[in-house]
Amino acid sequence: SDIGKGTYPFYMLKEIDEQPAVMRKLSQLYTDDAGNVTVDHAIIDALGQADRIYIIAAGTSYNAGYASKYVLETLTEKPVELGIASEWGYNMPRLSEKPFFIFLSQSGETADSRQVLVKTNELGIPSLTVTNVPGSTLSREASFTMLLHAGPEIAVASTKAYTAQIAALSFLAKAVGQAIGNEAAAAFDIVHELSLVAQSIEATLSEKELIESKVAGLLSDTRNAFYIGRGQDYYVSMEASLKLKEISYIQCEGFAAGELKHGTIALIEEGTPVIALISNNPKVAAHTRGNVSEVVARGAHVITIVEQEAATTEDDIIINNVHPYLSSISMVIPTQLIAYYASLHRGLDVDKPRNLAKSVTVE
Ligand code: G6P
Repeated sequence: SDIGKGTYPFYMLKEIDEQPAVMRKLSQLYTDDAGNVTVDHAIIDALGQADRIYIIAAGTSYNAGYASKYVLETLTEKPVELGIASEWGYNMPRLSEKPFFIFLSQSGETADSRQVLVKTNELGIPSLTVTNVPGSTLSREASFTMLLHAGPEIAVASTKAYTAQIAALSFLAKAVGQAIGNEAAAAFDIVHELSLVAQSIEATLSEKELIESKVAGLLSDTRNAFYIGRGQDYYVSMEASLKLKEISYIQCEGFAAGELKHGTIALIEEGTPVIALISNNPKVAAHTRGNVSEVVARGAHVITIVEQEAATTEDDIIINNVHPYLSSISMVIPTQLIAYYASLHRGLDVDKPRNLAKSVTVE
């Protein structure tokens, strides 16, 4: 590849740092001079006619689908169902009458996702590929394409594609919502909100040393760890734990915070790392705090990542507030850095983890 690392030790860190610029670029490319969202009308029409949205993806893209469910459901007024590509290729569930499929894929080449697309094409179901790679297989074979405009992602561990996927699907949600007269869609000033997201990411990126110091000792020789969160934070937990597993080889699970007590809390012992994600959602923040107390009582070493409005001086990592539709973008940033520093402090090759490929073209 002719894309250099510049002064960066690893592509992953470079790509993490590029995220504020990617957010701003998406705002430019998905709006016109008057500030109107410019998603292709044919996509808006086709999706507008659907009774249910199915998102098919693998790995980090699958987690990005979950992180986008809330904004999509709220603004399009349609249920959103997620499908693991490798499962749906063989076990397609009963579909709604008017399905619309979204294939989320950084590379646009994932064979598992393509297998589902072949089936939906046979069934004549309209589809949209959301990908970083123009002209990729999934892009060519779906009815429509939206691009992520994140620039080449070289590190195996995906970072900027995840946040770009949430942002791109938010533009889609806004456009469809406006077309159907959804009031929340009309009120959602996505360009302004994404500019706040970009600023929030920048604030987190300026705290790299703090984040490194929180994880250096804690994650340099542990065998396992947990992420917990509720609602949107649960979906971020899934991605945060995948990222940590991929590049640090720490066995890590992301849990819906309230579900821990139904079994997995048995694994908490003296010093077990638990990272709690608490965005500013008054309905759930206090409950996640309750779960933090439960694991602390059993000896867990907890790191809290908290959105400013919900934070206290006791919290470890504070994230600037953003719009709730977009909080997964700003909340995931410290978890990308946690994975990066854990990998670094374990002396691993951050960009090229064992057993993994950037794009998996076999089923
Ligand atoms: C591979 C990569 C993951 C990625 C997944 C889906 O397993 O290692 O990082 O999330 O494929 O890739 P896609 O290109 O479809 O988003």
